[in-house]
Amino acid sequence: MLSRVAQPHMWPAEQTVSSRRPILASMSNLLRLMYASRAAVTTDAPTLELLVSESRSRNEEADINGVLCFGRGYFVRALEGSEARVISLFGSLLRDTRHQQRALFSIGLVSSRVFRFGP
Ligand SMILES: Cc1cc2nc3c(=O)[nH]c(=O)nc-3n(C[C@H](O)[C@H](O)[C@H](O)COP(=O)(O)O)c2cc1C
Repeated sequence: MLSRVAQPHMWPAEQTVSSRRPILASMSNLLRLMYASRAAVTTDAPTLELLVSESRSRNEEADINGVLCFGRGYFVRALEGSEARVISLFGSLLRDTRHQQRALFSIGLVSSRVFRFGP
């Protein structure tokens, strides 16, 4: 079980986003993680669009929010959702050969979501 971590400093914009969100039933086990990885496949627009659209529909079903950034061959990713679902998704991400050199930047339980949409 992960220990609860302190909330990072909240910028005013983030406070606004959080305050607009309803309180989630799952907030007691809400997990946020951030990682980076290096793309191991072609990263042309159609490939990235397919990856994003597949991820979005799965994440919507699993009530996972976050963001996916891509630049210079690297993905940087934030995910937040129920602890069990985010850990399960991270397991899938670790097995996915479309990226490599995965580095986990941060992981911890949080009391509210920063991101309003699925990545
Ligand atoms: C950079 C990158 C980001 C991904 N993001 C997600 C995601 O947010 N949600 C998701 O369901 N799959 C995502 N995937 C795909 C997963 O790695 C995996 O293929 C998918 O979850 C199916 O997993 P499974 O085969 O274990 O069921 C991503 C893949 C890559 C390469």
